[in-house]
Amino acid sequence: MSQPTHIHKVSNEAKQQARLSEEQYQRMYAESVNDPDSFWREQGQRIDWFTPYNRVKNTSFAPGKVDIKWFEDGTLNACYNCVDRHLAERGDKTAIIWEGDSPEVQDEISYRTLHKEVSRFANGLKKLGVAKGDRVAIYMPMVPQAAYAMLACARIGAVHSVIFAGFSPKAIADRINDCEAKLIITADEGRRGGKTFGLKDNVDEALADNRCPTITHSVVCQVTDGEVNWQPERDVWWHELVADVSHECQPEVMNAEDPLFILYTSGSTGKPKGVLHTTGGYLVYASMTHEYVFDYREDDIYWCAADVGWITGHSYIVYGPLANGATTLMFEGVPTYPGIGRIGEVVDKHQVNILYTAPTAIRALMSKGDAAAKTSSRDSLRVLGSVGEPINPEAWEWYYEKIGNSRCPIMDTWWQTETGGIMITPLPNVNDLKAGSATRPFFGVEPGLVDNDGKSLTGATEGNLVIKQSWPGQARTLWGDHERFEQTYFSTYKNQYFTGDGARRDDDGDYWITGRVDDVLNVSGHRLGTAEIESVLVAHKAISEAAVVGFPHDVKGQGIYVYVAPMTGVTADEALTAEVREWVRNELSPIATPDFIHWSEGLPKTRSGKIMRRILRKIAANEHDNLGDTSTLADPSVVDSLIKHRLNK
Ligand code: WTA
Repeated sequence: MSQPTHIHKVSNEAKQQARLSEEQYQRMYAESVNDPDSFWREQGQRIDWFTPYNRVKNTSFAPGKVDIKWFEDGTLNACYNCVDRHLAERGDKTAIIWEGDSPEVQDEISYRTLHKEVSRFANGLKKLGVAKGDRVAIYMPMVPQAAYAMLACARIGAVHSVIFAGFSPKAIADRINDCEAKLIITADEGRRGGKTFGLKDNVDEALADNRCPTITHSVVCQVTDGEVNWQPERDVWWHELVADVSHECQPEVMNAEDPLFILYTSGSTGKPKGVLHTTGGYLVYASMTHEYVFDYREDDIYWCAADVGWITGHSYIVYGPLANGATTLMFEGVPTYPGIGRIGEVVDKHQVNILYTAPTAIRALMSKGDAAAKTSSRDSLRVLGSVGEPINPEAWEWYYEKIGNSRCPIMDTWWQTETGGIMITPLPNVNDLKAGSATRPFFGVEPGLVDNDGKSLTGATEGNLVIKQSWPGQARTLWGDHERFEQTYFSTYKNQYFTGDGARRDDDGDYWITGRVDDVLNVSGHRLGTAEIESVLVAHKAISEAAVVGFPHDVKGQGIYVYVAPMTGVTADEALTAEVREWVRNELSPIATPDFIHWSEGLPKTRSGKIMRRILRKIAANEHDNLGDTSTLADPSVVDSLIKHRLNK
């Protein structure tokens, strides 16, 4: 796996500008892992508490007793921390710059306006009967109201669960039903890349025939003014809801361990998991990582080009930057519309200093040579970030040279929905950079590598990535299923959190994430479970069996290769293939659209009937010369036929 290493050393001049010297960094890191209690006792002060905490860390990863609590006797409100506490000094400062899909459309929302909008909407939610502890689903495009909705929930103590706007009605219904949401907040339509897409339509379908019995209302934000169906007893326009409410709304007093949000994510098996984050630890961690990892400074313009439907949007568009009183840019569109130069043009227009985006976007731009850099100077940039999937060294260098003009350090940040915030990353002008390496653990994070038997590995080596002790941003449980939480993350390797990722540690102690070691795919930075896609496939009447694997893809990182066995008597032709592709798009999401659909009468199975994915992965990746042991297969001839007809030539 080792590749030639491109090292970018921190120059002496750059070191002068760093927030921390190498020595300070080392000292702080050592304290953070040797004495987490006193380290986080101090760091917890970066946010405002209604009642101060006495107890800092109270956590156990022990089998059957996993229990994670931070700052447990403190009380606070996340919305107060992201909004109210900035009013005195930053009331007129821009909290959110909204850049529309069309370059002609933009908006700037001050902290004062944010306070008013969020408070009004919070009062609107109360009017509809939403109270502390209730769950609220949010299915919104990238408009400021998505952030208002999240913050309004936090203000009144309701637990939001944002559902990515690309998900299907079925996926919406599953998520609503799992957390028994009382209300859903949506929009008429969203806009992306010059087109509109329906959102309320999908919600209508999800709620049809009493499919989601816990939902009492759907609140609809008017974004495009497109036509929608209306059910007067259920549907409420956002603007009508807030027309006659006060813009004063006391933030609810929340315990540090009260839930802040649930975010569904894909696992290697079964239905999506409702990852639960609580209030105090999450906010401390999101705010601290945002400040240190991006070297955030008071007057910076900060842009995280993610979607609020994913954890990156939660922690680094909304909660982290707003807790720090930052100006956060929210982008409705896509990097390639109206032209390939859009990202740089947005940077110039708003004088962005910090840009945080995903390798898949970088690779899409890179595939057009340096056209993406031709229409802008990007002179305002100071720090770059990457997140969501491994960044290959070529894409890293391209990002560094073409977007950052070879003068902005790149923070390759490894983390997960479950970790709440960034876990492994360099810090700007503190750590030397290596193209493709996430380098060092953040403060308080103690990574380890273990072999498949759980034996801890030392020195330069490769293995399964675990985290040895708790950090404040860690997920506390899976909604309604603590047993699954323990099973998924704490049973593979005892007393450690298992990430599901593999990693290599080099001679300098720097980490290189090699990707998932379980059945989770990462397609264009979107996390998808193979089991989820398979269950949609086998629900199609023409399909008897399905196996889904990933394969290396130049732009998407991973593509989706689907093996399907037809029902007896079914002829698998092009029309059926197209139908199955549409089926997956509609039943799950366009992000899950298969790249290849390979029909086969049989799939390679062990004698006990287990599908051998290892072999299917190799065939999809065109590595069929090296299939490993096939002797345990019930019918080895299936493999020859699959190779002969493989689609990824
Ligand atoms: C992958 C996104 C390599 C990893 C924040 C992880 C990465 C999964 C990186 C989590 C990175 C994320 N380098 N791989 N810098 N960042 N990943 O939950 O496989 O959507 O387990 O959280 O993305 O995806 P999730």
